Formats: sequence, structure tokens, C-alpha cells
Amino acid sequence: MGYTASMSLAAKRIVVGVSGGIAAYKAVELVRELGRAGAEVRVVMTPSATRFIGAITFTGITGKPAIVDLWDPSYAGEVHVELGAWADGMVIAPATANVLARAAAGMSDDAVLTTLRCIEGPVLFAPAMHHRMWKAQSLQRAVNVLRAEGAQFVGPVHGKLASGEEGMGRMSEPAEIAAAFAALFIDARDLAGRTVLVSAGPTQEDVDPVRFLSNRSTGRMGYAIAERALKRGARVILVTGPVAIEPPAGAEVVSVRSASDMHAAIMARQGNVDAVVMTAAVADYRPATLQTQKIKKTDTLTLDLVKNPDILAELGASRVGTKPVLVGFALETNDVVAYARDKLTRKKVDLVVANHASDGLGGDTNVATLVHADGDDALGMMSKAQLADRIWDWVAARI
Ligand code: C5P
Repeated sequence: MGYTASMSLAAKRIVVGVSGGIAAYKAVELVRELGRAGAEVRVVMTPSATRFIGAITFTGITGKPAIVDLWDPSYAGEVHVELGAWADGMVIAPATANVLARAAAGMSDDAVLTTLRCIEGPVLFAPAMHHRMWKAQSLQRAVNVLRAEGAQFVGPVHGKLASGEEGMGRMSEPAEIAAAFAALFIDARDLAGRTVLVSAGPTQEDVDPVRFLSNRSTGRMGYAIAERALKRGARVILVTGPVAIEPPAGAEVVSVRSASDMHAAIMARQGNVDAVVMTAAVADYRPATLQTQKIKKTDTLTLDLVKNPDILAELGASRVGTKPVLVGFALETNDVVAYARDKLTRKKVDLVVANHASDGLGGDTNVATLVHADGDDALGMMSKAQLADRIWDWVAARI
């Protein structure tokens, strides 16, 4: 996979907050992983975390006392304030339902939450809990509050839970957490000097002067991809269907409506770009004839549709050599990865980002699998911005 934690964690000062879940034992591996990446780590624990794992274990690995008791007389002054001033960022792993709810409510009654309140850099939560707890509305409200405050999430992922059941609630693996945290520190402008073309949103296929066929794409994934490319230094051409959101500042925006318009706009601009990322939900069909007058109401109506040009397949078929790097999306309701692999070969592209229709439309998060010639990388639940970075990590390594 493109990203390794060591790329941006060297010499970073990180607080790891451990709360009380069975996944607490994996926090030991996370702390080691961050240490291996060159970071300096301090650990804070909730009292219930110490029921699962001893503070001394973390003290042994980090060489500094793990902090559980804010009232410990050996800490001169306010240890949480000191840690907040010292740290570049904080990871909370595992983040239990209880810690998430208390954090969202602004509580600060233990070492983890008081320290969290004092952190100025990036904050990453790695939730771990039973799948019914994760799904609970109150918990999801808490997650949304924390996201709105700027916190990031990695996972949970689908898998075996402590109860023996399977479901969405398992903590992401330590290496995955470390990589997600490292990505929050990306300041490398690794796309500087590159031009990328991103398509986004739905297309609208006119039926008559007042009606069109379209789909529910919001454009958010494509806009996140454009935004992250801009942050990483690229010149970004954003070819976008009609959406209700603002494009990122700095993108060269080309607004289109139909698939034919999008096709023309992309073909006119694809020469000399380093990468094309097609997130647009291009309508597969358009009405065979465009009625110039509004169609009158009848008991039944049959619309003849013809196929639209497949823009991505055309780019794949006409490419000579390896430029531009081509990325497609595959949104399906079933057999997502298998269909994505089929698209990869059929459209002759380098990467297909596969996601399930229930995960990919509308919200701020996504659960995706990166499908490429070397295999599949299943990513846990992450924000669209995080997913965008994972895609650019992959692309940047191949430009
Ligand atoms: O074949 P399917 O529509 O599922 O493929 C999805 C991928 O192909 C997306 O990346 C989409 O932007 C692109 N596509 C395209 N032109 C079309 C249909 C899809 O570029 N007419």
C-alpha cells in the first residue's frame, strides 16, 4: 500500500489514549508501531483500560510513565495541560462507546479526556465496540459531533467481535491506525508540478425542455479528491456535473450537465495531465431523441434510450504508455470487488476504488477497497478526505 507511517511521523510527539475495551491489548502494538515510525509516544489511560492492560506495559515500551491517575502527587502541575502543550497530536485507541460519548459531550473527568481537551493538533479515534453499540443513534450522533469538531476516525471494520459475533465494530489493525494518523500530518507536496483531472457529480440527460434523467451522486467524493490534490500541490481540473456543494478553492472548475458534455470537456483537457480520477456518476444512457417540446401526459410512456460514451474506457483504450494514471470508481449493490476487478481489466485502468452503494452515496464517510493489478486493499471506514489521501498516496507513487 502507498502509505507507511514512517513517512510523516518521524520526530512527532504523540499521545496515545487507551480506553477500556478488549482491543486495549492492540494499543501496545500501536504504540510500538508509532515508535518504530520515529515518533515519541506518551500514553494516557482511562481507569477501566487498566482492567484490560497494565499501565506498566506502556511505561516499559515508551520509557515514560503511562498516566492514569490525574491526582498522582508525583505529577507536579497539571499533567494534561503539559501533555497538550507537548504533543503534536493524539490517537485514541481503542475508543469505546463510553469515551466517544463523553468526548462528544465535552466531559473531561479522566486522564484521556482532560488531555484530549488540551490537544491542538490532529486527533484520531479508532473505535472498538459491539456492532449494536456502534450503530446506536446516540453513538452515531456523538461521532458526528466529534467529526464536526475536526476529529478523524479510522474504522471500525467488519470482523469478529469479542462477543464471538461478526459485525462492524472491530478496531482497525495497529498498522492501519498508524498509517491513518500519519496521513493527518501529510505536509509533503508530493503532487507539486503535477496536473490532475478529476470528474465529479452526476450527469443530467435531458428528456424534454423540462425533464431529465439523473442519479443521486452528491459530488462529495470527487470534491474531496480535488481538495486533497490541491493541498498536496497539484494543479486540479475539476469537471463537474450539477451538485449542491461548493468546489474547493483553487480548482479550475468546468461545469457540465450531460455525459456528452462531460465527455467533450474531458477529452479536450486530458492531454498532458498526469492522472485522471473519474468519480463522476456518468449516466449510462440518454434519451435517443431530445424532444423539443414538453412530452404530453399519456397513460403509459416508453422512452428509448441509447448508450452514452464510456469516458474512462475511452481514456484506457487510447492511452499510450502509462500516462495518465487512470483511476475509476465502482459503486455497486453486490459483488463489489469482483465487479471492480472486471472494470479494471475491461476499462484498462490502473486502480478501481470499489464501494458498496450503501456506503458511498451522500455521507461524509466511505468504506472502500482499492483494486489494482497487485491485489485488493480493503480499507476500513474513513472520511472521504482520508480516502482521497489514500488514493493520492497510491497514484503519487505511480506518476
Ligand atoms: O461501468 P461503470 O459505470 O460502473 O464504471 C464506473 C466508472 O467508469 C466510474 O469511474 C465512472 O466515472 C466511469 N464512467 C465513465 N463513463 C461512463 C460510465 C462510467 O467514465 N459512461
